[in-house]
Amino acid sequence: MIIAYESKTGFTKRYAEMLAAKTGMKLFRVNELSKTEINEEIVFLGWLKAGKIQGLNKVRKFNVKAVCATGTGSAEENNAKTIISRNKLGNIPFFYVQSGCLPLKDLKGIDRFMMSMFAKVLKKQKDKDKKIIEAIDHIENGFDGVKEENLIPLIQWLNSR
Ligand SMILES: Cc1cc2nc3c(=O)[nH]c(=O)nc-3n(C[C@H](O)[C@H](O)[C@H](O)COP(=O)(O)O)c2cc1C
Repeated sequence: MIIAYESKTGFTKRYAEMLAAKTGMKLFRVNELSKTEINEEIVFLGWLKAGKIQGLNKVRKFNVKAVCATGTGSAEENNAKTIISRNKLGNIPFFYVQSGCLPLKDLKGIDRFMMSMFAKVLKKQKDKDKKIIEAIDHIENGFDGVKEENLIPLIQWLNSR
């Protein structure tokens, strides 16, 4: 089995590299995959953009055995069932790990626009609880939630095969 990943700002890449270091599996960026890997079993890691796992469509023609999404939301905020159905994962084993985000000022183009709109919506809410205040802070100032321990369920699944 090999690891393939899609990452724009580097958080998912860090998880993919950690997983490779822990398991000894070979690591590929999605765009590096070629016909040579067509029969390889793949564990795919991709970041969430408005609930959609980035890079997933590019690996669908490969032999994907597990999918791991990363995002700024906590595991409780990012409901697995919703992500599975939104991304048409069917019965493929799914994992979610919280990653992080760059500060808004370091994002560019459409990503920056979407995140600033999201922050605006959150700020407009009247009764902001702790989670909403934290989410606004993460968007504006950035947040790094990458932790090796978050990969434990995925590593356990790999070991159980
Ligand atoms: C436009 C945009 C939309 C995002 N949508 C989500 C989302 O729906 N859920 C989530 O948890 N994180 C979301 N994020 C946060 C990213 O998934 C997170 O920053 C991720 O770590 C980026 O991965 P990368 O560093 O590997 O590129 C979004 C970020 C951007 C810029």
